[in-house]
Amino acid sequence: MEKFIIKGGRPLKGEIKVGGAKNMALKIFAAALLSKEDVIIENVPQIEDIGKLVQIMKDLGVKVEKTGKHEYTVNAKNISKTRLSPELTPKLRASVMLLAPLLARKGRATMPHPGGCAIGRRPIDRFLEGFESMGVETSEDQNKNCYKLKVAKLKGSRFVFRRVAVTATESIVIAAVLAKGTTTLINAACEPEIIALAEFLNSCGAKISGAGTPNVTIEGVEKISGGKFKVIPDRIEAGSFIILAAAARSDLVISGCNPSHLEVPLYVLEKKMGLNLKRGNDYVRVLPRKKTLAGTEIQAHEYPGFPTDLQPPMAVLLTQASGMSMIFETIYENRLVYTDMLNRMGANIIMCDPHRVIINGPSCLRGKKVESPDLRAGIAMVIAGLVAEGTTEISNIYQIDRGYENLEKRLRKLGADIRRINR
Ligand code: EPU
Repeated sequence: MEKFIIKGGRPLKGEIKVGGAKNMALKIFAAALLSKEDVIIENVPQIEDIGKLVQIMKDLGVKVEKTGKHEYTVNAKNISKTRLSPELTPKLRASVMLLAPLLARKGRATMPHPGGCAIGRRPIDRFLEGFESMGVETSEDQNKNCYKLKVAKLKGSRFVFRRVAVTATESIVIAAVLAKGTTTLINAACEPEIIALAEFLNSCGAKISGAGTPNVTIEGVEKISGGKFKVIPDRIEAGSFIILAAAARSDLVISGCNPSHLEVPLYVLEKKMGLNLKRGNDYVRVLPRKKTLAGTEIQAHEYPGFPTDLQPPMAVLLTQASGMSMIFETIYENRLVYTDMLNRMGANIIMCDPHRVIINGPSCLRGKKVESPDLRAGIAMVIAGLVAEGTTEISNIYQIDRGYENLEKRLRKLGADIRRINR
C-alpha cells in the first residue's frame, strides 16, 4: 500500500502550476457522448478519477484515445452497451454523469449506485427527479443496488431543484441538449464549471442560456457536432495550494489559475485572516507572513460561497491561526471526521455536531501516522504534515491521487520533504 512520508517544518518557495479541473474534465468526457463526432479534450489532469471514467466509457464501447500528455479524443459514434460497469461505477461519483448522455442517445441506462468520497450519504434522487420530469421511467432494484432508466425520447420540462446540486444540474443540462422542446431549470447550481460546460456544448451546436445563474434554459436540438475544449483551471487545486502556502509560511506563486473563481476564499484569507497575498489575472502569490494569522469563521456553501472542497485544507490553516475559529459545513454530513486526526497531531478542535467544529489556535502540530479518508481530507493531511514538527506518515493516498496529479513531485520542486513509499 502506498504512503506519503513527510518531514515537516520547511517553508516552501517557488512556483506551482495549477492543472485542469477534475470536476470539469469529468463532465466534458460525459458530454462528449452526446456527439457522434470526435471531441478533443485538452488540459485533462492525469488523475485516478479520469482514468476510471475513461475505463467505464471504453466498457460502453466508446472510443477514447489519449492523444497528448493532457489530451484525449473521444468518439462516441458507437455506444454498444447501456449498462455501466458494476465493478468500476461504485468507485466514482462522477460515473452518474453518464446516465444523461446514455438516455439522450440510447433511451436507456442501468447503473449501480455511484461511489466517490465517503463524506456523506450522496443519494442520486435529484438526478432521478430531473430525468422523470423529462419523461424517463426510473426504477430501483434494492437487492441488486441498481437503477434502471428508460425513455422513448427525452422531453423538455420545467424542473425545480429543491436544493442546489452541482452534478445533477450538469446532468439535466446534458440530457436537455438533445431533448424535444425546451427545458427550464430553476435553482440550478452556478459553479464556473457549469458555465464552461454550457460554452462547450454551445460551441458544438447546443442552445443553452443562463448557465452560471440559478435559471438555465436549454432549447433541444436534433444533434450536436464534435469539437474541442480546453479544461478550465482547477479552482480547488489552486485554493488547496494557496492554503498550503499560507499554512507552511511559504513564498509561493500559484500560477495558471483563475483567481476570480476563488473570490470568497481569497477574501477570507486576506481580509479576515490577514494573509499577505498578491493576485493577477492568472496567478496568486502568497507571501511569507510575519505575524500569526487571525482565526475566523467559514461556512462551506455552494458557489460562489466558500467551497466545501476547501474546507479540510482550511481547517489545517485555522489550527495555525490565533484565537477561536469556527467551520460550518452545510453541504456534507460526514466531512469533518478527519479533524480527529488533526487533534491527534496536536490541534485543539472541538466537534459541536457533525456540521460544526470550533478550532482553538495556534497549535503546534506534531508528525503522526494518519490516513487519507477522502480526497480533500487527504490534501489536508499533506498540508498538516508539511506544517508539523517531525515525520508524518499518510496511508490510503490513492484518495489523494484521485484528484491531485503528481503531488509529491510538484511539492518536492518547491523544497518539500515528501516521499511516496510502497509498504
Ligand atoms: N445530494 C442529494 N441528492 C442528489 C444529489 C446531491 O441529496 O441527487 C446531496 C449530496 O448528498 C450532498 C449535497 O447534495 O450532500 C451536495 O451535492 P452536490 O450534488 O452539489 O455535489 P456533487 O455534484 O455530488 C460536486 C463535486 C464535489 C463537490 C460538490 C459541491 C463532482 C464530481 N463532485 O459533487 O467534489 O464537493 O459538487 O461543490 O463534481 C471533490 O472534488 O472532492 C468533491 C467531493
